[in-house]
Amino acid sequence: MSITVAALELIPETSAAEQLVADAYAIDASIEDAARVRDCVPLWFHTFALAPGVYTRGIARDHGYRLAVLDPERFAGRSVLDVGAFDGFYSFLAERRGASRVVAVDNEQYVDWVAARFGVQLAPAAGFHAIAQLTGSQVEYRQMDGFAVRDLKERFDVVLCFGILHRVTDPIAFLQTLADVLAPGGEIVLETYGSKLDADTPAIELREPGDVYARDDFTYWGFPAEGLRRLGRTVGLHNVEVVDEVLIDGHPRIVALMRAAT
Ligand SMILES: C[S@@+](CC[C@H](N)C(=O)[O-])C[C@H]1O[C@@H](n2cnc3c(N)ncnc32)[C@H](O)[C@@H]1O
Repeated sequence: MSITVAALELIPETSAAEQLVADAYAIDASIEDAARVRDCVPLWFHTFALAPGVYTRGIARDHGYRLAVLDPERFAGRSVLDVGAFDGFYSFLAERRGASRVVAVDNEQYVDWVAARFGVQLAPAAGFHAIAQLTGSQVEYRQMDGFAVRDLKERFDVVLCFGILHRVTDPIAFLQTLADVLAPGGEIVLETYGSKLDADTPAIELREPGDVYARDDFTYWGFPAEGLRRLGRTVGLHNVEVVDEVLIDGHPRIVALMRAAT
């Protein structure tokens, strides 16, 4: 009997695609501070432009397709909840783009899959705190499960739900929780794992442990556009706009806006 063991992944080189997105939140620290911060975290999820020519080597690939839903008008004067923030790139970007208040939450589940996939033991929120300290950011960070955000006892104009819906065991309950913390007229800006099924398929794909990312057992679902629309309607968000469906690094991704009634 032979047993196949997937090899650990290597931290990829930063390409122009990641740098382009990182430049939307250019930090402009001194070269010395930038190098110190870059090197104090053993693995970055997000690519940050710390200083001219100094980038963190984020493992997230080519997020350029997300920029279309991150225009300053979306954030100016609005309160923002970033669920599953990891290093917090999108929280910091929302703050830079004029959000009145930003709360970032993460249950720090990534500590487990980063260790499994990359063999790196990461201190929870190390990257987030390093950037917050470097920039003097006022983003509030909570180690918290996304299913618990009602406990914040707060409503938000914008909920960023990027890269997480496919990672929760119960996507209906998760989305319902986020819908429940939306202010009237608020919106969930959603990005998640897509599907190669026909866009009109009224279904959600069930993936198997390791078949999306070897050594990552937390990717459960793939969402075709119609599946996502139905999910929105199921939690009372009838205004669902599927903004984009793209293939990134061989992986289908889908971006949608889900708006609450005013
Ligand atoms: C793939 S990363 C995406 C990071 C970031 N939102 C982005 O898309 O660039 C998924 C993040 O969601 C977090 N996460 C997964 N399940 C969660 C849950 N139930 N509650 C809060 N965070 C969760 C993970 O710890 C990880 O930081």
